[in-house]
Amino acid sequence: MRNFTSVHDIGDLKSALAKAKQVKENPFADQELGKNKTLLMIFFNSSLRTRLSTQKAALNLGMNVIVLDINQGAWKLETEKGVIMDGDKPEHILEAIPVMGSYCDVIGVRSFAQFENKASDYNEVILNQFIQYSGKPVFSMEAATRHPLQSFADLITIEEYKKTEKPKVVLTWAPHPRALPQAVPNSFAEWMNAAGYEFVITHPKGYELDDEFVGKAVVEYDKEKAYKGADFIYAKNWAAYQDPNYGKILSTDRAWTVDTEKMALTNNAYFMHCLPVRRNMIVSDEVIDSPQSIVIPEAANRVVSAQVVLKEILLGL
Ligand code: CP
Repeated sequence: MRNFTSVHDIGDLKSALAKAKQVKENPFADQELGKNKTLLMIFFNSSLRTRLSTQKAALNLGMNVIVLDINQGAWKLETEKGVIMDGDKPEHILEAIPVMGSYCDVIGVRSFAQFENKASDYNEVILNQFIQYSGKPVFSMEAATRHPLQSFADLITIEEYKKTEKPKVVLTWAPHPRALPQAVPNSFAEWMNAAGYEFVITHPKGYELDDEFVGKAVVEYDKEKAYKGADFIYAKNWAAYQDPNYGKILSTDRAWTVDTEKMALTNNAYFMHCLPVRRNMIVSDEVIDSPQSIVIPEAANRVVSAQVVLKEILLGL
């Protein structure tokens, strides 16, 4: 593997899941693989899980790790080409990227959608500049349109908890006070489609995702109907994707909060969320504190997904 930005880079999912199982059973088996290799993790946005789990995965593989938070202590970076740099950004990403590439062997990048320019977000301009100019393998630690390390961990978790070969998985929009990118739901949809599960997406009208990610999923506007018989409820907020409302909040309707009433419609479903989660907005205390909530093992599997991806990249060096 050279770069990892989506489900398309991981290859056969069965084989990826088998590798995840191996990593989980023996996390220190490949300590020599990463010896004297350096991972540089670059964050344009905040993180708890991605930062810690990816670092832990790299340490399990014997790698050295350096971390740069672009907005805390680094020069502000200009990302547009052709601009006159007379503003508050003293360094251009076109110099910064190859310099960063010269200090490491593998680069992880977190760069969220900015909701200023839909084309720029959906063309993954920042992530692709790292791929183009760093000279090093690059993996996404959540980019503008996808969060593949999260989705891979979600898939591993569903495989561990599922009781039938093809469970019913429901992705439900839920309310949030801030406008959040579509990266997690886009990516989750892409991986669920690839896994071949019975997959339903439910959200209020106006929150339709890009068809490219929805794929074969059933879109059901009636949330109670969507919840019926579900084996997994995966909650996430996202801002509107469709024009002219790209990046806008259209609803904060708490009737969409995941609660015990709606969970009672399911097949005793497990509750999932990528975290961080706003309690009593996205999900009620009762649901997230219930035995059916698997958000902690889901987060723990972030080490596993990151370690599989880093291992594959190291094998390709
Ligand atoms: N789920 C996830 O990526 O968490 P962080 O934003 O804390 O990294």
